[in-house]
Amino acid sequence: MRYHVVTLFPELIDAALGVGLLGKAVVSGRIEVRCISPRSYATDKHQSVDDTPYGGGSGMVLRVDLIAKALEGIAENAAPDAPRSHRVLLTPAAARFDQAAARRLAQLPSLTLVCGRYEGFDERVRELVDEELSIGDFVLNGGEIAALAIIEATARLLPGVIGNAGSLAEESHAAGVLEYPQYTRPRVFREREVPAVLLSGDHARIARWRRQQALLRTRELRPDLFAQLQLDARDRALLAEADAEQGT
Ligand code: 6GU
Repeated sequence: MRYHVVTLFPELIDAALGVGLLGKAVVSGRIEVRCISPRSYATDKHQSVDDTPYGGGSGMVLRVDLIAKALEGIAENAAPDAPRSHRVLLTPAAARFDQAAARRLAQLPSLTLVCGRYEGFDERVRELVDEELSIGDFVLNGGEIAALAIIEATARLLPGVIGNAGSLAEESHAAGVLEYPQYTRPRVFREREVPAVLLSGDHARIARWRRQQALLRTRELRPDLFAQLQLDARDRALLAEADAEQGT
């Protein structure tokens, strides 16, 4: 996958691409990330990228023309027969990015992430993109951290980026529920023992316990996700069993 990031802070993006699985994905060529700064298209002597808002008010507004130039530069540098890179504007005033969006975007050959700035961007920037996404209900200074979140969430779905393909398969199997608790050595830590079922060697019982824990956890911590789950008879039985044990 090829990513383009339109950002005033390429160093921030590049810094994250040097480490861990993302770093490996870059080195192996499974992903390629190019940053383009709108500042490189600035023409005035101060190289300004923003200006005061029409109508007055506080703060500066990111200019639309330099972002348009950056996007056109990306299109011009692409192979002549390549489809135009899918453009996503990162702003807190947008639909939420989630795992379904990650799976959808990971299918694309090329993704362009346009980072907004907290003081705002010219409204006409919205007409230059294919969609807008937010990573949650909080405000960041700019879209860079959101861009990194989207790069990481999509890149790890690409073939070969995660060494252990079993992790991905397990994740999609458990779609919509929180992860079950995991343990490793020591078996006893400050008098807290690992649940006996995990030491039993009975893989069917272990799988059952994990599913039950995942369901309980989701119901407790994410009632919104729990409400969306399509529980089968087995799931309902697992929850009923846990509730009966609680009651006794
Ligand atoms: Cl995409 N941008 C900014 N600036 N803040 C955010 C965000 C994006 N998503 C959540 N908060």
